[in-house]
Amino acid sequence: MQSAPITKYRPFPPVDLPNRQWPSRTLAQAPIWCSVDLRDGNQALAQPMSVEEKVEYFEMLVKIGFKEIELGFPSASQIEFDFIRRLIDENRIPDDVSIQILCQCREELIVRSLEALRGARNVIFHLYNSTSPAQRKYVFGAQRADIVAIATQGIRLLRQHAAPLIAEGTRLRLEYSPESFTSTELDFALEICEAVSDVWGPTPDNKIILNLPATVEYATPNVHADQIEWICTHLTRRDSTIISLHTHNDRGTGVAATELAMLAGADRVEGTLFGNGERTGNLDIVTVALNLYTHGIDPKLDFGDINGIREVYERTTRMEVHPRHPYAGELVFTAFSGSHQDAIKKSWEKQVPGAPWDVLYIPLDPADIGRSYKAIIRINSQSGKGGVAYILEHEFGYQLPKLMHKEIGRIINDLADTRGSELSVEDIHGVFRSEYLERVTPVSIEHFKTLERDSTVRCEAAILLEGKRLVLAAEGNGPIDAFVRALLQAGLPRFDVNSYSEHSLGQGAEARAVSYIQIRTAKGGLFYGAGIDTNIELASIKAIVSALNRSIARG
Ligand code: KIV
Ligand code: ZN
Repeated sequence: MQSAPITKYRPFPPVDLPNRQWPSRTLAQAPIWCSVDLRDGNQALAQPMSVEEKVEYFEMLVKIGFKEIELGFPSASQIEFDFIRRLIDENRIPDDVSIQILCQCREELIVRSLEALRGARNVIFHLYNSTSPAQRKYVFGAQRADIVAIATQGIRLLRQHAAPLIAEGTRLRLEYSPESFTSTELDFALEICEAVSDVWGPTPDNKIILNLPATVEYATPNVHADQIEWICTHLTRRDSTIISLHTHNDRGTGVAATELAMLAGADRVEGTLFGNGERTGNLDIVTVALNLYTHGIDPKLDFGDINGIREVYERTTRMEVHPRHPYAGELVFTAFSGSHQDAIKKSWEKQVPGAPWDVLYIPLDPADIGRSYKAIIRINSQSGKGGVAYILEHEFGYQLPKLMHKEIGRIINDLADTRGSELSVEDIHGVFRSEYLERVTPVSIEHFKTLERDSTVRCEAAILLEGKRLVLAAEGNGPIDAFVRALLQAGLPRFDVNSYSEHSLGQGAEARAVSYIQIRTAKGGLFYGAGIDTNIELASIKAIVSALNRSIARG
């Protein structure tokens, strides 16, 4: 990289717009959305989608709620031509959905595109040519007037050749894009848009779509917003025009640029799901739509099954949604930090159904997009004790006593440290079972029964102590007390029961009891044990054995 002074790159020139309005506006409604997944997105794939895959993708876009969908470039690709024909011939396009195609301003391409569209009900014919000084100089070797002529001639040719299609009942609308708009002088962008409108003659009932692409993103989002506000306020037929955005993401600010440009007056937004597209991609519609939703604005797109949408997207595009991708990424509803987990848990517990969403660290209720509460907390060595207890309770139903959280939290953290990786919920369950529920050495129970005698209880038990069978009996003020006495009489290390709690696990006939018992050893060590059984008494006896075995194992 060059060191200062950096002479290789230049700042992007600001827009002279002293009275700009967009910074004091707020968004209040969703734009008209247009998906360009099947054109801009598809053309940027190493392996483009097959016709079958495109049909599946199209149907998913319709289900999400897109009313305008760009299908491709039929004059440039036979597959795209065949795909469009298939949708029309098989009557797969709902009446309220407009299909859009892209075409250069050349007669043979316009004619061929119109062939692909025969029989369609609602069509947006998208013509474009590039307008920036660099494109004019390096690619076209043309002056401004020549570039205007290419566009206006294209519109005239479209009007002429589309007449039969319109006569057959197709509702045809025009979209015009001055490609590389954001790198074009604003006065020239305005001039060409006006010239195109003059030829097309839009009305408030039949508006022209002027799409103003950030073909390559060079400026900060505020400059993009200024460019859009400048056009919106200088255009003569604003009431007959839909101003459309088409941001790419070269600086990583495609979403921000779109949001600010919506404030600046744009009516329509083109983009792709998850931001697929050329280079760094197109605008990510999922993010902008759900950003609106989390501000209480109906996005008019349904992402209620984001995982299903993501599955179709990843399978058909062979692209992957990044694990940190807003809303859709694998890890975005996962907290690794203990303090975050704690705050999430506390605020989630206070969340009143139907009240405004107020859960910390998670700006959207995962359930709204079909994601599960279950995936919220994963455990690594930095996780707090609360995270482990949360998983054991919410995934497996164990309501551990508060004091036990610390003990199990430490065991899990040590394991995560040794492994050097995060632990899955199954790992945590496995550790809980082997540490507490499945310990059978040095003591295991073979048989246990109690007999009530006035105010005392007599227990008779058979245990295996390091493989040797011992038959025990003792009396106490309850089954636990009697069993503890019996163990002590058999010569096991002295201990007291410090605390006891239990709850049921599961419901109905399947329900079992789970007991948690904390013992204090003669040396003052505190150890929890846990036991499960259909018989509540036996669950607590198992919990004692579990605690005793743990204390012996730890010396
Ligand atoms: O990015 C772009 O400029 C385009 C145009 C064809 C609209 O995709
Ligand atoms: Zn594009």
